[in-house]
Amino acid sequence: MAGTVFYFTGTGNSLAIARTLADRLDLKPVNIASLNHTQAIAPEAGIMGIIAPVYHGTLPLILTRFIDKLSSLESRYIFAVCTYGDHPGLFMEYLRDRLAARGGKLSAGFGLHMPYNYVTPPAGLKNFYNSFTLREIDPAVEQRLLVTADEKTEHIAAAIQSRQTGILETDSVFITRLVDALNLHETMGKSSWSKITGLNEPSSLTFDEVRLRMDKAFTVDDSCTGCGTCEKICPVDDIQLVNSRPIWQHHCEQCFACLQWCPSQAIQFRNNTAGQKRYHHPRVSLHDMIF
Ligand SMILES: Cc1cc2nc3c(=O)[nH]c(=O)nc-3n(C[C@H](O)[C@H](O)[C@H](O)COP(=O)(O)O)c2cc1C
Repeated sequence: MAGTVFYFTGTGNSLAIARTLADRLDLKPVNIASLNHTQAIAPEAGIMGIIAPVYHGTLPLILTRFIDKLSSLESRYIFAVCTYGDHPGLFMEYLRDRLAARGGKLSAGFGLHMPYNYVTPPAGLKNFYNSFTLREIDPAVEQRLLVTADEKTEHIAAAIQSRQTGILETDSVFITRLVDALNLHETMGKSSWSKITGLNEPSSLTFDEVRLRMDKAFTVDDSCTGCGTCEKICPVDDIQLVNSRPIWQHHCEQCFACLQWCPSQAIQFRNNTAGQKRYHHPRVSLHDMIF
């Protein structure tokens, strides 16, 4: 093996890319959620890759916990791919800085535009915090996105194969820096999420702590069969079945796997997602996610 590619995924986009790169570059794919984040993680010899979705223009929290436990990064070729639904934002800059704090150097960071798996706020203000919807992507547009992502993945594989350096794909830099400079995540972001999750304000929780409690916005309806898919697919064991119904434990990564993979579409986000189309990457099966 030439090295390791670590990935995190909720709906399979990042897993599909990790699998292709593992195949082209002879890398061992490792699910970040399967690792113990309470002790140091020393990757096996060789190059190292990280593939993960963009969350809120930045890194999933599980990815930050993983990076903070990494050791033995010096003089290793490190590459990363973020998958995103709209913009990569400053994901790669945050990742570069976080790796640098562990002694690692991000040599090449790529962004891949893929289908969006998150909720979208309503256009109007009426019933704002209850009315988030799942974004329905036209099948032809979705197909084009996936084909373009596959084509770019082959270019990424070639760039990694030749150990290219100095690549850092970012976007919306001005707006993301402005959000950072004005600390909007800790003010507007936190306030919105507190309302969505029904937390009482004012709260001493940080934006990241509120993110972990977003599962309070999930509900389950009567079409639930108690099959336990949600409990098995949750990458951080945030769901327990009690009387054959999911109960969320409030350390949620927001990956949306429970909602998107539920075979009965019984899991909802607030009041407005029933009957809306669910998404997962077409080359990734439930079996791939669970086993
Ligand atoms: C909680 C959450 C936040 C997200 N935030 C962003 C974002 O800020 N920008 C963006 O372009 N996409 C965002 N997305 C969309 C995902 O990054 C995108 O669909 C990704 O490819 C999903 O990868 P996965 O299938 O491996 O989970 C977000 C998705 C989730 C679940």
